[in-house]
Amino acid sequence: MKVLIIGGGGREHAIAQSVAKSPKVDKIYCAPGNAGIAEIAECAPIGVMEFDKLKEYAIEKAVDFVIVAPDDPLVAGLADVMTEAGFKTFGPSKAAAILEGSKAFSKDLMKKYNIPTAAYDTFDDADAAIDYLKNSKFPVVLKADGLALGKGVLICNTYEEAVAGVKEIMLDKKFGTAGNRMVIEEFMTGREVSVLTFVDGKNIQVMTSAQDHKRAKDGDEGLNTGGMGTFSPSPFYTDEVDAFCRKYIYQATVDAMRAEGREFKGVIFFGLMLTPDGPRVLEYNARFGDPETQVVLPRMKNDIIEVMEACVDGTLDQVTLEFEDNAAVCVVLASDGYPLAYEKGFEIKGLDAFAGKDDYFCFHAGSKFAEEKVVTAGGRVLGITAKGDTLKEARTKAYAATEWVSFDNKYMRHDIGKAIDEA
Ligand code: AMP
Ligand code: GLY
Repeated sequence: MKVLIIGGGGREHAIAQSVAKSPKVDKIYCAPGNAGIAEIAECAPIGVMEFDKLKEYAIEKAVDFVIVAPDDPLVAGLADVMTEAGFKTFGPSKAAAILEGSKAFSKDLMKKYNIPTAAYDTFDDADAAIDYLKNSKFPVVLKADGLALGKGVLICNTYEEAVAGVKEIMLDKKFGTAGNRMVIEEFMTGREVSVLTFVDGKNIQVMTSAQDHKRAKDGDEGLNTGGMGTFSPSPFYTDEVDAFCRKYIYQATVDAMRAEGREFKGVIFFGLMLTPDGPRVLEYNARFGDPETQVVLPRMKNDIIEVMEACVDGTLDQVTLEFEDNAAVCVVLASDGYPLAYEKGFEIKGLDAFAGKDDYFCFHAGSKFAEEKVVTAGGRVLGITAKGDTLKEARTKAYAATEWVSFDNKYMRHDIGKAIDEA
């Protein structure tokens, strides 16, 4: 079987490594890929939003299966384009990816189907939003409706800050058209957990839990990023929490999407807040998380292609997901300055150190080849993952492995997984 993966970050490298383990797969293609993915796949320099070129490439290579990993092409309908072209495609349709593509849609869905989430209101107009803030409790959370590279969320401590936030989102269009509408919601407290699930339209299978660290600096200081590191499983995601979420959140979401005529097939990523009043949905994503995937998939025992095919075929009820009884930690090595300005083009040295070590993974996020060398090409450069019997062991091993590689302006957080000491 020939598989085409769309995307080119650390998540896609982790997906590609899982796909490469499948006995069904002979050849992997990836667009655009990166220098790490190129070791196991043939990469083509085609952007994830170049739908016509991607379709032509899939036809030229006569692929048997397409995996669309990133949010932008999913929300814009790449899975539909590929499916209509006759390719078996893993990833939700445009109609279903709205679960991530519009926060107003997802909040309304949760309200309509009684799925626990923060109280909220939706606004199309800045004056009405500002008026609403006059009676709000602070802090309050402002969210641009559309996709905003994970940055369209503002937590505002005072009325003045919130008014400034509404203006940034709706009038100054800081997040572009994502800010044509916005959601204002209640601020929740608690631990965050990421739960990835496979969905076939009707049935849902839950993967092991994970936790991300979104802020750039140690101690959860600094700006929000795409994610600076993860661990899995989350010790805070207890059996009791799991039972609650299965009963009131996961299947309820799948059923709600079906009832709305937006059958969801692919991965639903539940961003949960474990509040003192029980688990609540913070957000939905219509895809694998990054860097959650880098700690979840290395622990999965199943053949990922079999699971993905079951999602497309609607036979996920016949699949049992199995995870290793261990733990994994991923530390992101970034370019200093990320998520703002940073330099790139520096040689990455020491990558060979990972060869032949089963417990260690070096997932490339922003890397490319230049004059036969591998150089930095993005804000997040590598995701260094290690598995261990316990979270503590995995963390010690992952941090040890961060020393094996070097590049100029290498930056990382030093407290990934520190929270587990409190568990
Ligand atoms: P989102 O993109 O919706 O996941 O939001 C990004 C981050 O903002 C989340 O990971 C939370 O840390 C924070 N956040 C979002 N919504 C809320 C909320 N209602 N209460 C507290 N924190 C929130
Ligand atoms: N790590 C968070 C995300 O993928 O959205």
